[in-house]
Amino acid sequence: MRIELSEEQKLLRETVRQFADEVVKPRAKEIDESGAFPRSFFDQAGALGLAGVAVPEEYGGAGMDTLSYCIVIEEISRACATSGVILSVNNSLVCDPLLKFGTEEQKQEFLTPLAAGKKLGCFALTEPGAGSDPAGMLTTARRDGDDYVLNGSKLFITNGTDADVALVFASIDLAKKHKGITCFIVPADTPGYHHGSHEFKLGVNASGTTELAFTDLRIPARYRLGGEGDGFKVAMATLDGGRIGIAAQAVGIAQAAFEEALAYSQQREQFNQKLSEFQAIQFYLADMSTELDAARLLTWKAAWAKENQKRFTLEAAQAKLFASEMAQRVTNKALQIHGGYGYTKEYNVERYFRDARITEIYEGTSEIQKMVIADQVLKA
Ligand code: CAA
Repeated sequence: MRIELSEEQKLLRETVRQFADEVVKPRAKEIDESGAFPRSFFDQAGALGLAGVAVPEEYGGAGMDTLSYCIVIEEISRACATSGVILSVNNSLVCDPLLKFGTEEQKQEFLTPLAAGKKLGCFALTEPGAGSDPAGMLTTARRDGDDYVLNGSKLFITNGTDADVALVFASIDLAKKHKGITCFIVPADTPGYHHGSHEFKLGVNASGTTELAFTDLRIPARYRLGGEGDGFKVAMATLDGGRIGIAAQAVGIAQAAFEEALAYSQQREQFNQKLSEFQAIQFYLADMSTELDAARLLTWKAAWAKENQKRFTLEAAQAKLFASEMAQRVTNKALQIHGGYGYTKEYNVERYFRDARITEIYEGTSEIQKMVIADQVLKA
């Protein structure tokens, strides 16, 4: 495994960092406070090729690899975690499964505009009673001639308020549990498709998190992604990729918090010396920088595994588990270094602290990652 970035990846990082610093970061506080979905950010990111980083150019993407995708998500999240997850969902939870499991016709009709950032996607798996246990979902899909008719509801769907296309998981036979789950591509303008208003949350506040409801929603059978009953595996394989994106997001949030804490410690004086001259603060900075590098390396390793192995379930879960918990520790220390100022809205660290928390929950909680890791190591 190579841990040095190629010239192309270094250039990508510079370009995305400039976009993130000049365009994304200045709006981060405002969208956090208003909760307004930043559609113009998505449009601009799409124009730069960031909506489908690892999708081949023939399908509207940037034709890069998974490590490049991690660089993009880290840099955007370093500026604004909300913007990071909006992109991460479109890239890894929507474009990636369409590329992997879609027919040529589905790729032309859906993947190409999604990867080009002309349409926004969401991933509708979670339900009010089926979060960590998606096999317990109650949304149904009934075959009716050349169509399927969907009924049910979904919850906590990132991008849900603004998505043009949803990947919806529904059961063709509830008695079959996970073996009945099937994935469908659902345009949001289909009659019977409803979305709620956005949830106000602790962090990543403008990511359009909402509920979706389907009432006798009719779609043609050609919008089924994969075979009948394949949906659970489509979801799990997709989440393996998604978890790498969330790990990169956590690294980006922690990197921002670390940089601001480092700068603050070199400027703020107490007891007639800079905070950075106190060994207690130096030890904080040492731990933060070490953990950040460890999380980034695990994330890059998972990216490498996705490119080079058939299954990368273990590497993705390890990266997500460690990076998300690292982000919680690093943002907590960054806030502590800022003292009372860190607890105010005047500084960004309180937002980083709040934004980091969700990375331990969405796309599988830390407890789920531990179940996945234990399962993988026990059967290795
Ligand atoms: N890749 C491919 N196949 C997989 C797989 C993977 N990573 N993981 C499991 N499978 C297959 C298994 O091999 C098994 O296949 P067979 O039927 O052929 O035997 C089948 O799927 C069922 O597997 P399990 O028995 O392990 O399934 P389970 O019901 O016990 O669940 C779990 C396992 C790991 C707990 C899983 O339910 C899980 O990951 N839960 C968390 C769900 C989650 O992450 N939700 C996040 C919602 S999305 C979100 O947050 C998005 C957003 O908007 C930001």
